[in-house]
Amino acid sequence: MERLAGCVSSADCCPDSIIASDYTEAVNAYRASGRLKPLLLLGDARVVLEQLPPSCVDCVMTSPPYWKKREYENGGIGQESDYREFIEHLLEVFSALKRVLKPEGSFWLNIGDTYHNKGLVGIPWRLALALIDQQGWILRNSVIWNKVKSGMDNARDRLANIHEHVFHFVKQPKYYYNADAIRSKPRMARVVNGAVVSATGVSGVRYKRQIELSTALTEEEKRLALSALNQALAEVRAGRISDFRMIIRGQHRTTHSDSEKVSGRAKELHERGFYLLKYHQKGSKPADVWDILPEDTQKRTLHFAPYPVDLCRIPILATCPPGGVVLDPFCGTGTTLLAARDLGRQSIGIDISRRYLEIAEERCATLL
Ligand SMILES: C[S@@+](CC[C@H](N)C(=O)[O-])C[C@H]1O[C@@H](n2cnc3c(N)ncnc32)[C@H](O)[C@@H]1O
Repeated sequence: MERLAGCVSSADCCPDSIIASDYTEAVNAYRASGRLKPLLLLGDARVVLEQLPPSCVDCVMTSPPYWKKREYENGGIGQESDYREFIEHLLEVFSALKRVLKPEGSFWLNIGDTYHNKGLVGIPWRLALALIDQQGWILRNSVIWNKVKSGMDNARDRLANIHEHVFHFVKQPKYYYNADAIRSKPRMARVVNGAVVSATGVSGVRYKRQIELSTALTEEEKRLALSALNQALAEVRAGRISDFRMIIRGQHRTTHSDSEKVSGRAKELHERGFYLLKYHQKGSKPADVWDILPEDTQKRTLHFAPYPVDLCRIPILATCPPGGVVLDPFCGTGTTLLAARDLGRQSIGIDISRRYLEIAEERCATLL
């Protein structure tokens, strides 16, 4: 058996399905095969990435090791005595990663923070800013992953920590993004006593009364507002929009600003006497706080930091086109790869530990 590129111990011999050399060939053959079972590459991510073909993946989703928190099999990044060195090592990986990511691709980075000498180090933002400033990545979102419940935390002089960051980076201003693939399903309009009522109960009756009885609208404004209201109700009936709200002068306020300089809506309210907020027919876009419980599907006997499959769903659905490839350069036990497979995407996982790759292989071998 072959020694592994970038691997730490000679005990790291690998089964046939885990590749330890000739990575380019393996990636080309994997792409050509179209198979959904992930391709597993064993070695130090810095070494492996250098050897992959340029622009060969559509989307990267990963969770690097924490700094000084856990010891994984085979050591690897995360054991540095200084956080600056830890960040340097991650930057080396992400610079190599930029080359293998397609120009229109996305890079999603989940990273947690660490307390050191009493102080929170601020690892996530130090790393994010270095990626922007030193490597030219464009940061599109800083998502807060709210874990909802905290684990064991005995500190008596600070709050429990239950969040981590998920940063979304891109290489160029125009990139692949399918917002429709991640919208929540809109609730449907219903018919109540012969009248159409929107998903949240808007029938138009209240708005109609408010317009007719208004002392803040002119007769002409009332005529235009009633016509716009009827038009919106017709759109709900026809299924073109799922819902709407009407803001009427003298009855409601703009939600974000009353200043006509700042807000186009405030200006519309002033000039026309009303405006409509129409809900997207395909549902609403997720926001940048995600409530996802960390799950423990692997009983935590071996690997201590798998993230939940659900954390990978939005990144993959929105930024990896069907038929595309997802890469995780710190794939551990293969959660990203499992999510990709379940969503019908090919995936490539790199890890320095053979044992973790074996677990990843086992997890992804089950039937869909
Ligand atoms: C936080 S864990 C990833 C967990 C993974 N998301 C999962 O669901 O199992 C980080 C992983 O990075 C791996 N690792 C550390 N240094 C590495 C390096 N230089 N190259 C490749 N993998 C490395 C560790 O072995 C560990 O599995």
